[in-house]
Amino acid sequence: MHELGTVLLVDDEAMVRKATEQWLRLSGYEVISCSDAKSALEYLQPGFAGVLVTDVRMPGMDGTALMREALSRVPGLPVMLVTGHGDIDMATRAMREGAYDFIEKPFAPERLVATVQRACDKRRLMLENDRLQHDLASQSGIDARLIGLSPAIARLKQDILSLAAIDTNVIIYGETGTGKELVAQCLHEFSNRRSRNFVPVNCGAIPESLIESELFGHEAGAFTGAVKRRIGKFEYADGGTFFFDEIESMPAHLQIKLLRTLQEGVIERLGGNSSIAVNLRVVAAAKADLRVEEGFREDLYYRLNVSQLHIPALRDRSDDIPLLFEYYVERCALQHEREPRAMTELERRTLQRYSWPGNVRELKNIALRFSLDARVQLADLLFPAVTPMQGLRASQPATQLTCQPLSVQVGAFEAEIIRQSLGRHGGSIKAVMDELDLPRRTLNQKMTRYRINRSEFVPGSAED
Ligand SMILES: Nc1ncnc2c1ncn2[C@@H]1O[C@H](COP(=O)(O)OP(=O)(O)OP(=O)(O)O)[C@@H](O)[C@H]1O
Ligand SMILES: [Mg+2]
Repeated sequence: MHELGTVLLVDDEAMVRKATEQWLRLSGYEVISCSDAKSALEYLQPGFAGVLVTDVRMPGMDGTALMREALSRVPGLPVMLVTGHGDIDMATRAMREGAYDFIEKPFAPERLVATVQRACDKRRLMLENDRLQHDLASQSGIDARLIGLSPAIARLKQDILSLAAIDTNVIIYGETGTGKELVAQCLHEFSNRRSRNFVPVNCGAIPESLIESELFGHEAGAFTGAVKRRIGKFEYADGGTFFFDEIESMPAHLQIKLLRTLQEGVIERLGGNSSIAVNLRVVAAAKADLRVEEGFREDLYYRLNVSQLHIPALRDRSDDIPLLFEYYVERCALQHEREPRAMTELERRTLQRYSWPGNVRELKNIALRFSLDARVQLADLLFPAVTPMQGLRASQPATQLTCQPLSVQVGAFEAEIIRQSLGRHGGSIKAVMDELDLPRRTLNQKMTRYRINRSEFVPGSAED
């Protein structure tokens, strides 16, 4: 049966306590009964979901003192005092101090149950309200951390908040610069682990010979140069969140040790022989699917892959591009105490047309350069003047087309070079023909094939 509520019942007289307890149980309440104030206090934690019914006259701490302590631990807790006959003065004082109600002995059980019921309803509403407030605060908190209103980002934020609340391991997928580390930080900041450490480690960036002692720590004398005992990153992350960046680059022997650590929840410092318990939540970031990543252990994959988050590339959420850009322009202006540099509609569209191979990190850099020098044109930042051969090299990582047929990749290069040239020359076909040394017919054919629209590059043009 589902209980109507929880009552913490305190009375030193066993007979009265048993009888009250029985009545409340029969009426559908869960009852925790205690014979003194001190043992009742153990149940009174901030989120305590029930109400308190206490006798006033008790040896040791009496009911009013218990009430005061309870209210300081659980603000707003409904407290009902059971008073002796004629103790009206005391009861009025207690009401003034925040008691929910008082019940005079001897009482009719129905009267007690009715009061308890109202108190439980009140408590439930209060907790519900707290929860909504907390959700609202987290919502605005994450909106300030992760900029973006596209449906994909809105969903990502919801997923982060629900995953933050549960303690599972997570793998975050996303191209370079999409915000994997930022998302991992959010998972930590909105979780119950927030007061402990967030510890990021990039296995690819630490020399292999040092990784183990970095992670597990070592005792003095464990190896040459280990002069003092050193706490490793796992221990440092105890109770908090461990972020493995580029997990795909983790050496094989370390994968085995990590798996053991996750399975057993203990580590051993190098050169030590005692096990130290660590409570970790692991968040890992990867650029490619770990299941097909050569040399990545399947058992470790399944350990980590309790949940997944996918961060879309910036070009796949183009609505967020101008928003993010303006966010960084404004932030930069604020830092330098000046007006943010304004953007034209054409510039916004130019931003959205660019493929952003470096995603948000690249956008942030360009936004800063745009902000800091009012003379520099956005098109010049995005499509710097290059000869076609340099263009090939420059756009190689830009197009992210590996695994595509050669013809598709070459086509993408061509399109990118033509776009860059058009961008530099404000949409002038003649200038592009000259620069790329192309006959008009060939250029037209290519522009049609790649769906490149000249008017998009003409400054001040009304529509695409
Ligand atoms: N949605 C966003 N809102 C605001 N800033 C963002 C957002 N996404 C990413 N950033 C910023 O972009 C930069 C790059 O993000 P981050 O370092 O988290 O990317 P990453 O995916 O870990 O990159 P890499 O794969 O190169 O390690 C950081 O400065 C981060 O604060
Ligand atoms: Mg990163």
